[in-house]
Amino acid sequence: MYRVATRVPRIPLRPGGSYPWMRPRRPPQRCGLGAFSTVEAAAVEQTAARAGLRGKSLTMATLNPQVKAVEYAVRGPIVMKAGDLEREMQQGVKQPFAEVIRANIGDAHAMGQQPITFLRQVVALCCFPELMHSPAFPEDAKQRARRVLQDCGGHSVGSYSASQGVDCIRRDVADYITRRDRGVPSDWSDVYLTTGASDGIMSILKLLVSGQGPSRTGVMIPIPQYPLYSAAISELEAVQVNYYLDEANCWALDTEELQRAHRAAKQHCQPRVLCIINPGNPTGQVQSKKCIEEVLHFAREENLFVMADEVYQDNVYSADCRFHSFKKVLFEMGPEYFNSVELVSFHSTSKGYTGECGFRGGYMEVLNMDPQVKAQLVKLLSVRLCPPVSGQAAMDVIVNPPREHEPSYAQFTKEKNTVLDSLAHKARLTEQILNSVPGIKCNPVQGAMYAFPQIYIPPAAVEEAESLSLAPDMFYCLKLLEETGICVVPGSGFGQRQGTYHFSLWRTGSGRGQRRLSSFGPPWRLLFFGSDNFAVESLKLLTSSRSSNEGIVGSLEVVTLSGDAPVKRFAQHHKLPLQTWPPQKVEGRFDVGVVVSFGCLLPESLLNKFPHGVLNVHPSLLPRWRGPAPVFHTILAGDTVTGVTVMQIRPHRFDVGPILSQELHPVPQHCTAEMLGAALACKGAHLVSEGQRVQPELLVLVSGVLTRPLCLCPSLQLMETLGTLSDKAAHQKEQSKIGATFAPKIRTSMSWIVWEEQTCSQIDCLYRAIGSRIPLRTTWMGRTIKLLDFTGKCHISLSDHGRNPVPGSVSYQKHSNTLAVCCKDGWVGFKAVLLKKRLTAADFYNGYLHRTGQGAFVSRTSSPARLLRDSTVS
Ligand SMILES: Cc1ncc(COP(=O)(O)O)c(C=O)c1O
Repeated sequence: MYRVATRVPRIPLRPGGSYPWMRPRRPPQRCGLGAFSTVEAAAVEQTAARAGLRGKSLTMATLNPQVKAVEYAVRGPIVMKAGDLEREMQQGVKQPFAEVIRANIGDAHAMGQQPITFLRQVVALCCFPELMHSPAFPEDAKQRARRVLQDCGGHSVGSYSASQGVDCIRRDVADYITRRDRGVPSDWSDVYLTTGASDGIMSILKLLVSGQGPSRTGVMIPIPQYPLYSAAISELEAVQVNYYLDEANCWALDTEELQRAHRAAKQHCQPRVLCIINPGNPTGQVQSKKCIEEVLHFAREENLFVMADEVYQDNVYSADCRFHSFKKVLFEMGPEYFNSVELVSFHSTSKGYTGECGFRGGYMEVLNMDPQVKAQLVKLLSVRLCPPVSGQAAMDVIVNPPREHEPSYAQFTKEKNTVLDSLAHKARLTEQILNSVPGIKCNPVQGAMYAFPQIYIPPAAVEEAESLSLAPDMFYCLKLLEETGICVVPGSGFGQRQGTYHFSLWRTGSGRGQRRLSSFGPPWRLLFFGSDNFAVESLKLLTSSRSSNEGIVGSLEVVTLSGDAPVKRFAQHHKLPLQTWPPQKVEGRFDVGVVVSFGCLLPESLLNKFPHGVLNVHPSLLPRWRGPAPVFHTILAGDTVTGVTVMQIRPHRFDVGPILSQELHPVPQHCTAEMLGAALACKGAHLVSEGQRVQPELLVLVSGVLTRPLCLCPSLQLMETLGTLSDKAAHQKEQSKIGATFAPKIRTSMSWIVWEEQTCSQIDCLYRAIGSRIPLRTTWMGRTIKLLDFTGKCHISLSDHGRNPVPGSVSYQKHSNTLAVCCKDGWVGFKAVLLKKRLTAADFYNGYLHRTGQGAFVSRTSSPARLLRDSTVS
């Protein structure tokens, strides 16, 4: 999986800056932005002064050292590098990926999450009250907006609110907390609206930091942590006290570890604050009630101020976990706890199901704070005047959503559940995909929006990273970005136990990051489903790819139907592991499935076992000719263009999945279904990468002349798709709802010619579509007659025939030894018929037509034209 770099990563280094992930060559050097030394800065200034230039008053030398000390990994150098790559790509610089996937920060809307309609309606109405007159806005949204505006100065969201926030919204927050915590009381005067949770966290930390030397405030934070905490601690010059989450135990919080960290910290600071993130960022764990009780007990014992970051309270996915608020648990521990432990809990509009990061909405509830300090808090908050009022309105929707009897309830609930279901799905997908990549190990993702997998970095790579003065995980993430376009954050930015390496991946978005991530894992572990000769061609190519060094197919197993199918024989002959349908041993053993001409619908439970999905090669331009016989129907309908589609299989229905790649292909004149099928199996020749030889048969095909049998060459398009699967998945396209047609199996009933209805070219198409398998048929004197060796349209003018010919009339053409049969718009010829035995046209004429004087064929009623019409769906 890992390849040692040959290129030195290009990292955007700031002038004079070094980074925490840089390994110092000359110890002991302070890591961080502050590494630009004051002496160096002073030297630069002196040089400028000597040159007669007026120096700047704000320089790196005079900059607040606490600002220099701040590090914020989720917007750090990797992210700057991602921005550079994007700009370069816009200017046409080619990269080995089509786009940069930003999995560094949880910004749902930036990655295409749809807003909740009701929230946007309320905010829109608040911002532009003229809309109150619009019938497009539901009454409940208008009522919410009116209520907020009522409490705003001048009835406008453009006015400052009270520093603590708009009164009615604070009341709504308190009601929400009471409902959420099943009756635990909440007093709205304890609620403060904030500019996102970040602002609340920063404000509370400001209150808490005091003392000097060993009495300086120590802030206990989880490791790994959300970097806001370490950044705030640096900025405020507090002391960071790390307590480590237990990776081996699903990132659980262990009170013994809290005690250890606390004991150790007391040697050099005064631990006063305990920060908890639940559900956890970046680790995704959800704390049990018992764990929270132990934490609160410990906090009370040690007289710690508890900050409970609960911004992911709506993001719990594991069926075994539930969100328990710290406040509710504290209440249930009894009055001696509820009335004493100082607790602030935070929530935000940025996460949950709304993902409205840009509104900067949030709140905090403050319990058991000394009233005098509370007054100081209000003073501190009033310095920044107020949080954005539009963000407060957004928060109001979260805490006061539509009720069951209100008009917006159904849509709101549907949209909320859609987002949460999709987040839950991505949580499972992420865990599954990450664990399928060799060298990556990911704990179960129970909640929040991230995964924090551990990565194995080989010693050679660690050495190379060190030679570049980079921390190994930074080196890894840079290489990941450069080679795959995935932007993740090295674990060092969040903290990790020494000797372990991680990265943080925001796992919502479209799941593309996860998919692409495991794509640097090919060779794939592949399970092939197929039965007939068409499928054998693809299997042949996959088998030979496995033994070549193309690196696309790692392992290959086969599922086939019971009975003696060509795929089964091929697999046995080539000693490929074989399972009969339905397969039993799939879970965790394969990355991708490939289905070619299999005929059974794969159930959803089976599809879900392939982290990269199951691909299907379909010989038509979907959505045209969905179904089992696309090639026959292409010829039958007289299509002049067709193609090959590689798509992801969706459950429940055949041929409806999103398209990964599609190649057009002209249908050569006079080509039969067999010839076209064989040609389509070869389709993709022009996708052959440099250095590979283009098959001569394909050149023949592309020129549109099919004079010799086509080789059933392997499906190169399938290989090309497998080789770039994650990029293809990133750009997959849902099938158009327009133009879908159905291609049912070919049946004998289609072979009856209806002379009155079918034209020469329709009979020609029918013959080329099915003729080699099912002879065309008609009746003569009440007997079935099979029409063989079709010669196409005969040039007999209807008037030449001497009388007004009736469809079905037969005329023997002696000079060409052909039976010409009159159809709707002319004559078509056959060289032979099958009555009891095969008869040439001359034999049939002399032995039957001439003797009986009966020179007409009679159509049966079920016409192929009608069948064809019936097969077309809108
Ligand atoms: C644990 C945690 N706390 C706080 C925040 C900040 O959220 P907000 O956008 O509300 O400031 C984040 C954002 O990702 C977070 O993950």
